[in-house]
Amino acid sequence: MNRSAELLERLAARECPAFGHRRRVRPGGEEGPSPIVLARGEGTSVFDVDGKRYLDLCAGFGAVVLGHGHAGWRSAVAAQLDVMVQGMGDVFATEPKVELLERLAALHPSGDAQVLLAQSGGDAVTAGVKTAVLATGKHRLIAFDGAYHGLGYAPLAACGFKPSFARPFAAQLGEHVAFVPYPGVRGAEAGACLAGVEAELKRGDVAAVLVEPILGRGGCVVPPDGFLKALGELAHRYGALVVADEVWTGMGRGGAWSRMAELGAPVDVLCLGKALGGGMSIAAAIASREVMAGWAENGEVVHTSTHVGAPLACVAALATIDALEGGLLAQGRTVGDAWRARLRARGLEGVRGAGLMVGIELASAEVAQRVTAQLLQRGFIALTGGIAGDTLTLTPPLTITDAELETFDAALLDCIG
Ligand SMILES: Cc1ncc(COP(=O)(O)O)c(C=O)c1O
Repeated sequence: MNRSAELLERLAARECPAFGHRRRVRPGGEEGPSPIVLARGEGTSVFDVDGKRYLDLCAGFGAVVLGHGHAGWRSAVAAQLDVMVQGMGDVFATEPKVELLERLAALHPSGDAQVLLAQSGGDAVTAGVKTAVLATGKHRLIAFDGAYHGLGYAPLAACGFKPSFARPFAAQLGEHVAFVPYPGVRGAEAGACLAGVEAELKRGDVAAVLVEPILGRGGCVVPPDGFLKALGELAHRYGALVVADEVWTGMGRGGAWSRMAELGAPVDVLCLGKALGGGMSIAAAIASREVMAGWAENGEVVHTSTHVGAPLACVAALATIDALEGGLLAQGRTVGDAWRARLRARGLEGVRGAGLMVGIELASAEVAQRVTAQLLQRGFIALTGGIAGDTLTLTPPLTITDAELETFDAALLDCIG
């Protein structure tokens, strides 16, 4: 038995059975793609505990945007370890927190924004939803079929990705979320989706439309041109806000700091996470001063937690922003655009995405599972996604090279057969 197998046996004995169950019901069954335990990362590679090297096409679910152990990020974080790791959150701030709030505010299209820091993407979405409720005095949300926003109760109530995630907790999730189709999911067309949104908005009690500009876990589904702009304008016409969940697309992953802003689509609350910390857990909800004012007008109400705004995480985020600004964001976008074009030129039809957020739809979930398992054996980490589980979801570090991607492309085409 190798070291991975030994550790997996110990893991199965002690980890909540939710995850073992998930492995058993995968189309690949016990042979499915999870038979390794990771030991360390280096640039665009990770190594398992048995010393095998893999090209990392996932980068910690998209979070390790600079690659593993990026020099600038690493030295900033290492230096902060000697200074202070945990501060006093919202009671006594630290300098890195102040600087981070300024840098994040500048990412919001309003030009005069304020920020709520959070600990995870789901926490940022919760903060975003609360912000919309406070700003509008309304309580309902519109969310999309196929969307994923995290698994705490606020984002779970808006989970259109997998109904089984929410079903056992339905009684605790309320009935405030209306689900509408997302263009491209189960064949839905943009016009019908907008009509569904308008029908809900007409009730007059909608605080916000919660939207991913590209469905991430839902299979890297890119809505047609103009959809997000029309959606935002519609929401505003009825007095509802747009909470843009850019936890996955944002911070360069989808080729821009904010995909909504890049497309000129209205954004009231911008939720960022994943890549924000370059691998360290930190997230944010950013809104115009006017929208954030709701927090000051409702008595004592706050959204915070012990580790929010910890100086170590703030420094990690600042170093990530520096590296992205220093050229990595543009580089990732160029490499991603070229990669998708190459994959299409090699005959793959179901290629979609933006920047280095790439989905490749295969014939079925079984095929996607088999291909992922074979890629793992050949030294490539890839994940499956999509509501049908039929889409390879690829989010490598933005430092990945064309040459590295070409080795992956060759292996992929070989595995697809
Ligand atoms: C679009 C989107 N929003 C929110 C989340 C939740 O983020 P976290 O897992 O950090 O809570 C995710 C996670 O995959 C996501 O893809």
